[in-house]
Amino acid sequence: MNVKVIDHPLIQHKLSIMRNVNTGTKEFRELLDEISMLMAFEITRDLPLEEVEIETPVAKCTCKMLSGKKLGIIPVLRAGLGMTNGVVKLIPAVKVGHIGLYRDPKTLLPVEYYSKLPSDVAERDFIIIDPMLATGNSLIASIDILKGKGAKNIKLMCLVAAPEGIKLINDAHPDVDIYVASVDERLDDHSYIVPGLGDAGDRLFGTK
Ligand code: URA
Repeated sequence: MNVKVIDHPLIQHKLSIMRNVNTGTKEFRELLDEISMLMAFEITRDLPLEEVEIETPVAKCTCKMLSGKKLGIIPVLRAGLGMTNGVVKLIPAVKVGHIGLYRDPKTLLPVEYYSKLPSDVAERDFIIIDPMLATGNSLIASIDILKGKGAKNIKLMCLVAAPEGIKLINDAHPDVDIYVASVDERLDDHSYIVPGLGDAGDRLFGTK
């Protein structure tokens, strides 16, 4: 399985506070922002570097700077928005696309209602961000949309995942690496993650 659990103590501590039913919107939002930055730090660990000549106030030297393809991030509406700023703070030049999906009440499958992507999708590497990897259906649809526009290198960054969703994505897109802070027990009958943290969008935006 292409899943990596980022088990840094700071991330695990902050996630536990987010799970607590008594944690309010302000703190939930701040913690998601902080965790997103910490996770992005780990996910970008393998970015390629190139050597460049730099003149410091003291001497000339050979240093390293990022090279290779530029990055794009895709928050999946709406909860993915809560992870956007944390990543942008770390990678200020990143392009941000958006994908919105709703669940068809008959087929229960995701239907695209909005997508606005960078114009040069085929030239970029992407991180799709969504706090909750539950059934995996909307993330598979998001990957399909990006691949359909020519994206080749896609990673997923989620906070909490259900094993069922991870398996579905792995089966559909084995080339996509999944980064999570926790793999929880299972999905319940309403496709909520157990124990999870409830509805991430509602907790993030205070719409409960
Ligand atoms: N989406 C959420 O916000 N929470 C879940 O537990 C599952 C999907």
